[in-house]
Order: sequence, then structure tokens, then C-alpha cells
Amino acid sequence: MLNKPALLGLLGALTFSVSLPALADPDGQQLYRQHCAKCHAADGRANTLRGWLYFAQNLSKAKWQDNNSDNDILDAIQEGPGAMPSFADKLSEAQQLALVKAVRDLRKP
Ligand code: HEC
Repeated sequence: MLNKPALLGLLGALTFSVSLPALADPDGQQLYRQHCAKCHAADGRANTLRGWLYFAQNLSKAKWQDNNSDNDILDAIQEGPGAMPSFADKLSEAQQLALVKAVRDLRKP
């Protein structure tokens, strides 16, 4: 017979393992399409109406990619420079890091 704390622990472990796949590997590309593409465009070139209105950065440019570290990109995601919204409270750290990778993948030669 299980006592109450053990049962609670078991329940907790179950819920935890069920939510793990979502936590383990956030899909950066999907997050990018969902949160960023409306301004920076699917390919990062920011050639969207909003990108143009807000002067959004062209994230695909090799020169921009070279001049910005992963930390710079993470800072931008968290703080939201200029007209860009801040994502610090909206996305988990793992999601933010997945987005840094997704931004890197936008690089054009
Ligand atoms: C409402 C439109 C908008 C959305 C949504 C948006 N951005 Fe931005 N973003 C901007 C604008 C405008 C700038 C340029 C601000 C500035 O530095 O003058 C910018 C700047 C950036 C920069 C830094 C550019 C630099 O040179 O320092 C990065 C990196 C970036 N965005 C990534 C993202 C990512 C990743 C997302 C999604 C999580 C996102 N943005 C969502 C408008 C947007």
C-alpha cells in the first residue's frame, strides 16, 4: 500500500515525464515562424510590411551574422531592441536558445 507522499511523488513523476518531450527539444524553426517571421520574414530578410515599417534587421546577411555573437542574438530576443517585443517572459530559456540557432540557420553566403 502506497502512502500519500509516495503517491504524490509518483503522480509528479508521471506528469513530469509526460511533459518532457515538449521541454527537451524546442523547435527553433517553428518558434521562429510563430514569433519572428512576421517582422523578420521566413528567410530572415525582413522584407515584410512590418519589417519595413519597423526597420527590422535583415538576419540573413553574412556580415550581420559575423558581427553578432550568439549572446548578442540572445540579448535581442530577451530585450527586444527598438520596436521589437521582448521575449524574456514569453519564452523559456531553452526556447530562446533554440531561436538563437534558428537565427544562425538564416545565414546566406
Ligand atoms: C514587431 C516586429 C518584430 C518581431 C515580432 C521580432 N523582431 Fe527582431 N527586431 C525588430 C526590429 C525593428 C529590430 C531592430 C531594432 C534595432 O536594433 O534598431 C529587431 C532586431 C532584432 C535582432 C538584433 C539586430 C541587431 O542588429 O542587433 C535580432 C537578433 C532579432 N531582432 C531577432 C528576432 C527574433 C529571434 C524574433 C522572434 C523571437 C524577433 N526578432 C521578433 C522587429 C521584430
